[in-house]
Amino acid sequence: MKTYQIALYPGDGIGAEVIEQSVRVLEAVLAQSGGAALEMTTLPWGADYWAETGRVVPEDFLEKLRPFDAILLGAVGWPERIPDHITLDPLKRIRQTFDQYACVRPARLIPGVPCPLAGKGPRDIDLVVIRENSEGEYVDAGGRFKVGQPEEFALQTAIHTRRGIERILRFGFSMARTRRSNLTMITKSNAQRYSFVLWDEILEELRGDFPDVSAERQHADAAVMNLVRCPEKFDVIVASNLFGDLLTDLSGLISGGLGLAPSANINPERLFPSMFEPVHGSAPDIAGQEIANPVAAILSAALMLEWLELPDAAGRIRRAVEATLGQGAATPDLGGLLSTRQLTDCILANVHFEVQ
Ligand code: NAI
Ligand code: MG
Repeated sequence: MKTYQIALYPGDGIGAEVIEQSVRVLEAVLAQSGGAALEMTTLPWGADYWAETGRVVPEDFLEKLRPFDAILLGAVGWPERIPDHITLDPLKRIRQTFDQYACVRPARLIPGVPCPLAGKGPRDIDLVVIRENSEGEYVDAGGRFKVGQPEEFALQTAIHTRRGIERILRFGFSMARTRRSNLTMITKSNAQRYSFVLWDEILEELRGDFPDVSAERQHADAAVMNLVRCPEKFDVIVASNLFGDLLTDLSGLISGGLGLAPSANINPERLFPSMFEPVHGSAPDIAGQEIANPVAAILSAALMLEWLELPDAAGRIRRAVEATLGQGAATPDLGGLLSTRQLTDCILANVHFEVQ
């Protein structure tokens, strides 16, 4: 039986609460499926670690993470105690050092979940946003000059490389082939004529390699409108780091809210561990109340199983989540009264029901 080594990085706030529940679900489905096991190692990093050591992660945290098959992260950040750029820095370094250049964020409205868009339902909202995760607007290139003087200025530079654009577009085209063969690349090439015109040119170069996929371009401003107006027109979206970040808050919202939205940071070549995490943050406003929705973390665990090539176990999780939400079980963010643990209990009941 193959055993996978999983690093659990619960982090701060509700991160630990939702990871605890996703571990319960993982253990239940793997006990049923047989054939594979997960050996999970919990890394106690984040705000509490900082209080003890003055650092949010140990100095050699990347070396510690490297041998794992995958990383399952809750969320990090505790703005009242530590500035966000300190707590979130390890995340950026994990994504960049482990070349997790494809951030995959599926957004599908599950039947039974209320949709904030009037007249739209589960048949209209089923898309995946692929966000370029390694360069673009989020590289650390720039500076502050003449600080404190009237002529002070800040320079923040984005870097878009041919290699980076090509590999994320190829990833998007390949994903489109496994879905409805429809790709939308989102840029702002009418206003940023160097970086995004390069994206446009590379899309045209790649088209011939994927004749079975229909690929179109949209500007980011039109795209946000269209995601609200006609979400059914989208299948696979590929966007730069910043635009992907913005679009996935919107795609998360229209598919039922942040409490449901999972995400994967993938190193497609499998040279390094990939990382799976809910889209949401540590939600200090509800931390400790046991009311966080665990579904985003549980669906992120399903994405991890799929990446580990355990599609059967991943499917069991998804079906149990769908059955549970379809029965109207909900935490307060979805208008229900269940606690984090109680909603997970319903999901576990559906996991067990399926095999009966
Ligand atoms: P957030 O995603 O933590 O919360 C936004 C709102 O959504 C809050 O009202 C929260 O209660 C609600 N919410 C989020 N997840 C929920 C869940 N599972 N169930 C029910 N309600 C949920 O974003 P916010 O408040 O902007 O950031 C809080 C902290 O998290 C900050 O330190 C931020 O930097 C960090 N953060 C970390 C991320 C990560 O670890 N990848 C991602 C986003 C933010
Ligand atoms: Mg974001």
